[in-house]
Amino acid sequence: MSEAIDIQDTRTAPVLVWDQLKDLDKQALERWRVDPVANGRSAEERGIDLPMPFGWFAMCYSDELTVGEVKPLYYFEKELVVWRGEDGQPRVLDAYCPHLGAHMGYGGKVDGNNLECPFHSWRWDGEGAAMEIPYSKSIPPNMKKPACERAYPCQEANGFVWAWYHPDNEQPPYEPVVFAEVGHDDWTEYEKYEWIVYGPMQTIAENGADSAHFTYIHGVADNPNYDITFDGHRREAKVHVKMGTPQGTVDGTIAYGVDGSGQPWTRFTGMCETLLVSGVTPIAKDVTHLRFAFTQLKEDRDGPKGGLAKAIIKNICKQLDQDKVVWDRQKYIESPPLCAGDGPINDFRNFFRQFYAGPEWEKYHGGIKRNVRR
Ligand code: FES
Ligand SMILES: [Fe+2]
Repeated sequence: MSEAIDIQDTRTAPVLVWDQLKDLDKQALERWRVDPVANGRSAEERGIDLPMPFGWFAMCYSDELTVGEVKPLYYFEKELVVWRGEDGQPRVLDAYCPHLGAHMGYGGKVDGNNLECPFHSWRWDGEGAAMEIPYSKSIPPNMKKPACERAYPCQEANGFVWAWYHPDNEQPPYEPVVFAEVGHDDWTEYEKYEWIVYGPMQTIAENGADSAHFTYIHGVADNPNYDITFDGHRREAKVHVKMGTPQGTVDGTIAYGVDGSGQPWTRFTGMCETLLVSGVTPIAKDVTHLRFAFTQLKEDRDGPKGGLAKAIIKNICKQLDQDKVVWDRQKYIESPPLCAGDGPINDFRNFFRQFYAGPEWEKYHGGIKRNVRR
């Protein structure tokens, strides 16, 4: 287990990227988090040709999709449509209607549990099969089977709608992780933040294994010596911290983990009970959508630890901002010249490669197939 570190410095120490962020007020910072990068370089110019990983990925928050609502989405370099049927279940399909190609996210509507295309009102179920054509007695036989390019298994957990993406359309070997804190009476409603990062999923996830960057990008006094375990589709780590508060220094623990490639979480205990549920979703090979949703124990958030509760959230978001300055312009180094102190970056990359599949998997693994363990 690691030695205790002082994370107070992450809020106070000047760091090298600070000049990129210091003049942004709250509104400007929120815009900067999601705006395109000025003078950004293409994936090709930055050597980013990593495969699209498979996994459970956040499509939206549950409260952004009411019963009967239809929304267009763009993830996995694909136009998608999500809707919530009258049975309350969310469903996700490739957006283009197999009939004559209308984008069903724009003008489509919900009919029972099915999606009605805006162009000629054909109705599609969640598997992408035609269920009804209002002006025709018969349905072309090949449209009765799943005919949309792809249907995505969908689940709701922790206040998010998750869809399973796999390049070869394989079914999920594990379920999304569920947290009892989310929606519990003793815990606060989510406080939500988002970023569009112009970098690949793998690079963002690698951050937790990159020990040395904590000092230089985040201003942490000592490199946290994370005790990382890799177990099947799950990666977990724990670090003890000392946090400066107006009441003095408090000992605490930060535990974090990632289920699959798209479901990271972080839990703070001992200081002010906080759970961060993240949704990390690939938009394209070099563009990633990050959502951070924080819930905190109400008695901590509303009591004497309230200041610390806010500081924890502010600090985490600030760290993400600092990393984004680098990620947005970073080149991918396939075989980095690592030295002692860099952390288990190669272990991490070997772990993450299990989420690549198909021809892309062959490219990265020399044809030796390994399955994600349950
Ligand atoms: S294009 Fe969708 S019903 Fe015709
Ligand atoms: Fe970081």
